[in-house]
Amino acid sequence: MNNYSENNKTICVLGLGYVGLTLSVVLSEVGFNIIGVDKNRQVIDSLKKGKSHFYEIGLEELLSKLLIDKNPPVFDYKINNQNASIYIITVGTPIIKSKNEPNLDYVINASVDIGSVLKKGDLVILRSTVPVGTTRKIVLPILEKTSGLKINADFDLAFCPERTIEGKALSELKELPQIIGGYSDRSINRASDFFNKFTCETLNVGNLESAEMIKILNNTFRDLIFAYSNQMALLCQEMNLDMVKLTKAANYGYKRDIIPLPSPGVGGACLSKDPYILASVCDTNNIDSSLFLLGRKINEGMCQNIISRLEKELNFHSKKLEGAKILILGFAFKGRPATSDIRDSSTIDLVKILLSKKAILHGHDPLVNESEIISLGVNYTTLDAGFNNADAAIIMTNHVEYEKIDINILLKKMNKPSVLIDGWQLFNSEIVYQHSGIKYMSIGS
Ligand SMILES: NC(=O)c1ccc[n+]([C@@H]2O[C@H](COP(=O)([O-])OP(=O)(O)OC[C@H]3O[C@@H](n4cnc5c(N)ncnc54)[C@H](O)[C@@H]3O)[C@@H](O)[C@H]2O)c1
Repeated sequence: MNNYSENNKTICVLGLGYVGLTLSVVLSEVGFNIIGVDKNRQVIDSLKKGKSHFYEIGLEELLSKLLIDKNPPVFDYKINNQNASIYIITVGTPIIKSKNEPNLDYVINASVDIGSVLKKGDLVILRSTVPVGTTRKIVLPILEKTSGLKINADFDLAFCPERTIEGKALSELKELPQIIGGYSDRSINRASDFFNKFTCETLNVGNLESAEMIKILNNTFRDLIFAYSNQMALLCQEMNLDMVKLTKAANYGYKRDIIPLPSPGVGGACLSKDPYILASVCDTNNIDSSLFLLGRKINEGMCQNIISRLEKELNFHSKKLEGAKILILGFAFKGRPATSDIRDSSTIDLVKILLSKKAILHGHDPLVNESEIISLGVNYTTLDAGFNNADAAIIMTNHVEYEKIDINILLKKMNKPSVLIDGWQLFNSEIVYQHSGIKYMSIGS
């Protein structure tokens, strides 16, 4: 292949969400020329002003600094006749909720867009999480058809999954080993050379399919171990055992497999969908996917369990969920590391069920925008006003800020009787029980 040149340091990133934007700024920081493309004009307009459309530690500061640099990243809402040598696809791969099947439309559209500008010597890297086989069977034929070029003879193709955690993306991009799978040895070498410019280590796993599988191998395992803890928590609740205490004791000095603490559900745009992507791969290969789906079912059922326990407690005091004032603390899908991302947060499921029962919901989150909380049908509130006359308070996200609140002052404001559901055991139950009339509950006890 002629025209093969890595002297062209221009990289085009398609999709400037959590993955694409963090990658773009890290690449820009190490000296690449970045062309970031996103179909969403609002995203592009705000990026041009140095504003990120989501919270990520250090991101906005770095973006603002880069924009006044001598070689700032360029943002656009459509791909032009680019002069890039490497194209990276970082668009979303959501699940079609009605079928729990992956929606690859964004990957398909991005591939068409790249195909329209692809030149001899270019390298295309898919980084979105996809069903195994997508790069070879879907992306490659589109690139060849729309560009009229041939893989190997004219261009190269790799799959390199994103594995960073939201809240640590900027540092993890440099610290996590990058998994590299490619169409050919040259594709692998080119992708490795590229990632070696800014990450500590690259791991050549061979073909495209191996790299695709590693991403869902990681994430489904995580979802399953959380499901294990959550199912054990349900059992402990019934048996009047404290799952958190038991887990800490089980893990103490026992350096084998660390059992995670139970949680009020497992949300986020990745763990809530990647097991379904794996299940779709199982189905294609006639392999039983029920283990992975069961993990999802357990984690998705945690909100209903919280509400059933709350309802039982209120009923015990002749109160009902209907008309009850419920304060919800935490809408981001996780608190550590901190994020403002509410996509597929367990809190959204909780809100839907509570609204269907006609509870009056008040919500707070230190990082999530007021408008996002209001759009869910929840009254946005301060902590003081939210605790005032509340019949229940439910801590759904383990934000560090919540650990620091003076819970004694806030508990005094609650109705009596009332309930504190401490989804992350941030507070000692004994402190709560000093306030007569307030029942303390957590997940697993
Ligand atoms: N969020 C994470 O931390 C994370 C981590 C690992 C892997 N992933 C995976 O990475 C992928 C992207 O995730 P995300 O959270 O960044 O998604 P996102 O939804 O935040 O961002 C995707 C962006 O792509 C844009 N887009 C869609 N089609 C486009 C096109 N044809 N051209 C240009 N832009 C287009 C959308 O407007 C959107 O802004 C997903 O497959 C996800 O599973 C995400």
